[in-house]
Amino acid sequence: MTGLLRTKTINADHHLVDTGLRRVLGPVDLTLLGVGAIIGAGIFVLTGVAAATYAGPAIVLSYVVAGFACAFAALAYAELAAAIGGCGSAYGYSYAGLGELVAWIIGWDLILEYSVAVSAVAIGWSAYMNNALQAMGLALPAGLLKGPLEGGLINLPAAAIVLILGLLLTLGVRQSARFNAAMVLIKLLAIGVFIAIAVSHVNPANWSPFMPFGWSGVMGGAALIFFAYVGFDAVSTAAEEARNPQRDLPIGILVSLAVCTLIYILVAGLLTGVVPYATLNVGSPVADVVLRLGYPWGAGLVAAGAIAGLTTVMLVLYYGLTRVFLAIARDGLLPPLFARVNPRTQTPIRVIAASGLLMAAIAGLTPIGDVAELVNIGTLAAFFLVSVGVLVLRYTHPDLPRPFRTPFSPLIPLLGAASCLYLMASLPLVTWLRFGVWLALGLLIYFTYSRRHSTLAGGV
Ligand code: ALA
Repeated sequence: MTGLLRTKTINADHHLVDTGLRRVLGPVDLTLLGVGAIIGAGIFVLTGVAAATYAGPAIVLSYVVAGFACAFAALAYAELAAAIGGCGSAYGYSYAGLGELVAWIIGWDLILEYSVAVSAVAIGWSAYMNNALQAMGLALPAGLLKGPLEGGLINLPAAAIVLILGLLLTLGVRQSARFNAAMVLIKLLAIGVFIAIAVSHVNPANWSPFMPFGWSGVMGGAALIFFAYVGFDAVSTAAEEARNPQRDLPIGILVSLAVCTLIYILVAGLLTGVVPYATLNVGSPVADVVLRLGYPWGAGLVAAGAIAGLTTVMLVLYYGLTRVFLAIARDGLLPPLFARVNPRTQTPIRVIAASGLLMAAIAGLTPIGDVAELVNIGTLAAFFLVSVGVLVLRYTHPDLPRPFRTPFSPLIPLLGAASCLYLMASLPLVTWLRFGVWLALGLLIYFTYSRRHSTLAGGV
């Protein structure tokens, strides 16, 4: 049992440490990174399926329920990101509060969350991109849009976009943040256009019956569209690249989540108010509704916004993945060759290249989109542990300086932990089984490699 519970000491001056990464991000960059990671496939694609098959017009309630769970978790993230810092996010907080084994499990889980999300969103991006190319008369041959398991050769656009984003991340965090900001503006503009068009076409009769599938439908919908909120947690992985992380990480996490929650509730309410919910089960419900209302130019703009949105989701989650990977490698739990930051670009080039090649292969060659709900279970597990981490650290480190404190503790962290468990329980059994397989693989790696090589065990 020795070592499984060993914890890392917390450096209260983490915001002053030079880890080789470049401290250039301010509060606006961090908030835009959050919005970049959050708004994407969830609202542009999943809302339609969730409304049509799970919740009906009460999809709005699904968004409220999932939004509450995320708000509780976001407050916990804000506290720990400001107090503990480090680019490992929930992994690093668990290492300080809950011990090495739990930290490894959650680090392994974050790798799953981010890499499956990037690969799955890349497949959605490819479909949207091909639609746009088709509209311009430039459609790709079918064999280049599907992997070998689905009768094609490779999903070329999906693999290519991951590699292109990898190159961008290699260049530097400032360049990546600028690109992200531009793309975020495009997607917000597209959503603004949708709202402006839809608002005058609402027919309240479409909201009735409001809850055709009952409360269990609302919860099933919430567990599915939870995906739409995934990503604000990635802001915390920018801790070592923020100029003033103790003040700005809480701002980035909380403001981005608040803005996106309002947008989601509005868009979900309008979608189901404008057309009957049962007709929303299509691949691109937002663009589709604008088209049905007779605005082809608006539909084009929404599609462009969706492409921009999916791009920023991939960019920021890929970014988060590399920072978590870097943090784990620095602690010796993954091979040290991944712990190096390139001194010229001040980015972890090896991690970016290795993870990019792997995700490009997964996106290009497998139907990973089918298992996207794994992202939800992985993220909910991380949110659960971060909420528990707040409680444990308040107890074990009562005097730790906390630039941001979760209000009404222990109530809010307890509600956070409980609501994440509740949403996890609403996910299908097959998702739990897949998650179990991933965790078993992680434990195998931990007990055969990581435990002995941990820097806390004197290994490197
Ligand atoms: N929240 C992100 C999306 O909806 C993962 O695409």
